[in-house]
Amino acid sequence: MATIHIDTATRQGRISPEIYGHFSEHLGRCVYEGIFVRPDSGIPNENGMRRDVVEALREIRVPVLRWPGGCFADEYHWRDGIGPRESRKRMVNTNWGGVVEDNSFGTHEYFELCRQLGCKTYVNGNVGSGTVREMSEWVEYMTFGGVSPLAELRAQNGHPEPWRVDYFGVGNENWGCGGNMTPEYYADLYRRYQTYVRQYDPAAPIAKICGGPNVDDDNWTRRVLQTCYARPHPPEDFHGFMDGLSLHYYVHPGGWDHKGSATDFSPEEYYATMKKALWMEELIKLHGGILDQYDPEKRIGLMVDEWGAWYDVEPGTHPGFLYQQNTMRDALVAAVTLNIFNRHCDRVKLACIAQMVNVLQSVLLTEGPRMVRTPTWYVFHMYRRHQGAQLLDARVEGAGTADGGLPALHASASLDETAGAVTVTAANLSLTQAQDVTVQLGGAFVDRGQGALLTGDVHSRNTFDEPDMVREEKLDVMGVGPLVKVRLPACSVASVRLELA
Ligand code: AHR
Repeated sequence: MATIHIDTATRQGRISPEIYGHFSEHLGRCVYEGIFVRPDSGIPNENGMRRDVVEALREIRVPVLRWPGGCFADEYHWRDGIGPRESRKRMVNTNWGGVVEDNSFGTHEYFELCRQLGCKTYVNGNVGSGTVREMSEWVEYMTFGGVSPLAELRAQNGHPEPWRVDYFGVGNENWGCGGNMTPEYYADLYRRYQTYVRQYDPAAPIAKICGGPNVDDDNWTRRVLQTCYARPHPPEDFHGFMDGLSLHYYVHPGGWDHKGSATDFSPEEYYATMKKALWMEELIKLHGGILDQYDPEKRIGLMVDEWGAWYDVEPGTHPGFLYQQNTMRDALVAAVTLNIFNRHCDRVKLACIAQMVNVLQSVLLTEGPRMVRTPTWYVFHMYRRHQGAQLLDARVEGAGTADGGLPALHASASLDETAGAVTVTAANLSLTQAQDVTVQLGGAFVDRGQGALLTGDVHSRNTFDEPDMVREEKLDVMGVGPLVKVRLPACSVASVRLELA
């Protein structure tokens, strides 16, 4: 019998909604087909955006969307993607399959998508192969509301009003596909490029995100911060040249060269995957610890703007398109990762699962006019009420370990102060043992409890022929008062909403 002790008296900080963010790159069938379709495609759409996809994404309250890459960002030249579609440049997508990129989805289309989703914007600039001027003019094009050549060009292209850019990434993976730079070289470039990311509207500041480390490369973090956190003549509120430092971490169960199948895996591979997913916590502590030395007030966010499980592509699909299926294993990866982000919400201010549709650990898969919600989609749905809530301490006791030495139960909890309700999310990582769980509330009483459950064989998944093999069910929440009880089957994710008396 396991207990989750929740301390309702101590708020541990606000869970930034942007922790539940997404990433969409010009890669494979993510943007094209997955989100954006041609008017003559026969697929219902609004201004090119698939209605089914937008509706499913609105249900999980997508808070922010990062675009256009990824590696693609450092070869993207934004002027190619504006103006009449028929005269936009056709280019080769060198990073992803060498296919033709016709630039029919560009800046205007991205902001239209975010409008339909009702989400914040995160645009990633090009440092690897673009100039300072190009980046600076893109920012002017997007955000300047006065009289200027770029604002005029935007108006000529149909959008007189400036848009709001909430986050701007200055390069992507500049240690790798973004230019193979040393940390020292990138740090100098970062200082220079970010200078020209102008804040045209003081009421709508752009948060600048500095390119961060690959996985556990703490040398990159240290060296970049040494240069970019400098305080030459700091005004009172000056906190370096950045608002966020990015971190990328993908779970490859067998390592980069042996990622393995997304659907056909052994229990050992499952446990190896979960062990790697849990390692996210150590990475946050590692890079967060370095950030603490510069920024103990935690004003700079650690932005985990690419995360997820990365397996071999589905057999028979284009190797450069990174299309993979999604099983209950992925639901558990998402559940523990989101619990970890919640628990570190003092430092993790934004995160983007990679990627939103049809690429890597997607929440949605499409095939022609058909769409399925993956098990990962359901986890985002079950966790949506953590967005903007106050983190509570949730201590798991007595759950023991699952095979492979993993903690059997993994949880986080938050308080929605407006609704007077606690949300508890938990994952049972064992493939064989159910858990009877008592949720014990210190200092509060439950008036009413409701729950949702996602469970099934670890290999189960949703396909276009069987789209509802894995889906959210009702979870019985027993009892009221200072404690409630739930039963979590092996290999399951649960979400419990407790309305307080
Ligand atoms: O998400 C796929 C790729 O992974 C991104 O383009 C890149 O940033 C990372 O290496």
